[in-house]
Amino acid sequence: MIDKNGVPAERVLDEIRQLRAGDRPVHGGRLFAYVYDPGVGGLDALGAAAHAESAHVNGLDPTAFPSLLAMENWLVGAAGGLLGGGPGSAAPDVVGSVTSGGTESLILAVKAARDARPELTAPRIVVPASGHAAFAKAAHLLRVGLDTVPVDPVTLRPSVADMAAAIGPETVLVACSAPSYAHGVVDPVAGIAQVAAAAGVRCHVDACFGGWTLPYLRRLGVPVPPFDFTVDGVTSISVDLHKYAYAPKGVSVLLHRDATLRSPQYFAYADWPGYTMVNPVLASTRSGGPIAAAYATLRHLGDDGYLRLAATTRDAVGTLAAAVRGVDGLRLMAEPESTVVCFTGTDPALDLFVLVDELTARGWHTQPQLRYADLPASVHLTVTASVAPRVAEFGPDLTAAVAAARRAGPVELPADLVALAGSLTPEALTPELIGGLAAGLGLGAGPPDRMAVVNTLLDAAPAALRERLLVEFVGLLQRPTW
Ligand SMILES: Cc1ncc(COP(=O)(O)O)c(C=O)c1O
Repeated sequence: MIDKNGVPAERVLDEIRQLRAGDRPVHGGRLFAYVYDPGVGGLDALGAAAHAESAHVNGLDPTAFPSLLAMENWLVGAAGGLLGGGPGSAAPDVVGSVTSGGTESLILAVKAARDARPELTAPRIVVPASGHAAFAKAAHLLRVGLDTVPVDPVTLRPSVADMAAAIGPETVLVACSAPSYAHGVVDPVAGIAQVAAAAGVRCHVDACFGGWTLPYLRRLGVPVPPFDFTVDGVTSISVDLHKYAYAPKGVSVLLHRDATLRSPQYFAYADWPGYTMVNPVLASTRSGGPIAAAYATLRHLGDDGYLRLAATTRDAVGTLAAAVRGVDGLRLMAEPESTVVCFTGTDPALDLFVLVDELTARGWHTQPQLRYADLPASVHLTVTASVAPRVAEFGPDLTAAVAAARRAGPVELPADLVALAGSLTPEALTPELIGGLAAGLGLGAGPPDRMAVVNTLLDAAPAALRERLLVEFVGLLQRPTW
């Protein structure tokens, strides 16, 4: 509850620091998901200072706050220039918007594509199965049909022929990833953009995750296939600045090849007695803080800075991948071609979810990925530059964690629970059943230290049941404090 007389500033900050002590470490290069850390001294302070300068500025009206407009335009120019657009390029008329994150950028790309075809009553989008879940969210929110194209279990990419076959008369957008989040592989963008263009359909490249590193990796000699506006038929690209541009959270850029393509992304409303609302993005009132922080970060690191960070990251990826290759019972899902290391198990006696817990116990926070279609469960590592200084410690710790996981043996759930997970329908889940399951899994007061049992149960459940179980589990965590 709110305090009657307020709390002194130092004490509140202290409270926040104490709460933060329970979080996973955002610095130190041992957290392989959620955070992007370049390990550059002073960058946090710069971001925080820039954020503070503009935190109360409102992006609602660019004429009232031209500072924000100037910074947004600069960010869009920086992203557009990096991704094959701008003066003298094949895409000289590139425009864009700054959004709050990758999900918002993808929702807006789908909205723009949908609203450009008002004559269609049941618009649809075509997305590889490896496309980010945000496309499904966009389809859900915007009531657009979702046609998912399977990926090859070896290359982890969709085929161009399958993507072409999925395009129908109601398709408003074809999407692909550069690279995909789960495995870090780049889809065949040129082929996909070509079949989309031949059908007269927009093509969005989701470069939210790796769009800021791929151009630098290419400059370093890594073979990166064409994926940006240099590819004919690519109509829009998203790139998150709060990922590999290392800006504080809350900033992504959605680029369109020209202003006509962007126009249906906007929402305007004049039919009420207040101000005419013109929103390029989902939010109306928007803090200038994240935009200013991103501006400061990009200006400070500069082109050479990003090239250096990409080189450091590439080297760390190489060391991590070599460590995985050196362990019996593990195999890389794909040879790393960007900044992801993803591996799976080849030996049933080695339980991947137990291994993840053993790595956590040794201070390495990796991300388990559940099995999907004909893809096995896997372990995902998003690698950032900050991993480099400690990366040599990973190999020995991985070996030790694997040995410990073998000693512990695979998680064995009671047979009736596995059968239940495989057969239960989401509708059959009652609050009592959820409560009982959560208590049985030790989820009562937050996530348990060891997650292998929970992951094994979720792994046994079909997608719809996983979704429902996790919605209910998270709902149990989100209760007001009185
Ligand atoms: C390829 C890709 N697209 C979209 C997103 C969604 O971004 P956000 O979490 O910023 O909404 C992510 C996030 O990891 C991603 O990797």
